[in-house]
Amino acid sequence: ASERTFIMIKPDGVQRGVVGDIIRRFEQRGYKLVALKMLQPPKALLESHYEEHKGKKFYEPLLEYIGSGPVVATVWEGVNVITVGRKMLGATDPAKSEPGTIRGDFGIVTGRNIVHGSDSESAAKREIGLWFRPEEVSDWKHTA
Ligand code: CMP
Repeated sequence: ASERTFIMIKPDGVQRGVVGDIIRRFEQRGYKLVALKMLQPPKALLESHYEEHKGKKFYEPLLEYIGSGPVVATVWEGVNVITVGRKMLGATDPAKSEPGTIRGDFGIVTGRNIVHGSDSESAAKREIGLWFRPEEVSDWKHTA
C-alpha cells in the first residue's frame, strides 16, 4: 500500500554534499517527494524524535551532534516506502551496510551515518508529525 516515511539527512550528510544524491535516489526509485526543509533542529524536537534512546550512552552525543548543524528533513510517499527506504539507507552501522546503499556508499561509523529513516508505520506517522505541520506536507498529484 502507499504510505509515507520520514527521511532526514543528518549534518554529516549535508557537510559531505550528498543531499542531492540522496534525494535523487528516492526520486529515481519512483518515490514522491511530499515535504522538504532545511533546519537547525531545536533540542526539544530532537528529544522527542530520539525519546526511545533516552538514557543510552550515545543519546547525549547524538543530540549534540544532530543539533550541531542544519539537517534536511523530507517526507516521501509511495508503495512500501518505509521498508524500501530503510533498505536504500542500509544498516544503521555503515560498516555493515552493503555497497550500493546510502550508508554503504558514504558512511563509515554509526555516529556519522549520514541519514535517518523511520523504521515502522507508527514511527513514520509520529516523526512526520513532529517535524512537519500538516500544511507543510503537499498532497500534489501527477498531471503531466
Ligand atoms: P538513527 O537511525 O538516526 O537512530 C538512532 C541513531 O543513534 C542512529 O541512527 C545513530 O546515528 C546513532 N547511534 C550512535 N551510536 C549508536 C549505537 N551504538 N547504536 C545505535 N545507534 C547509535
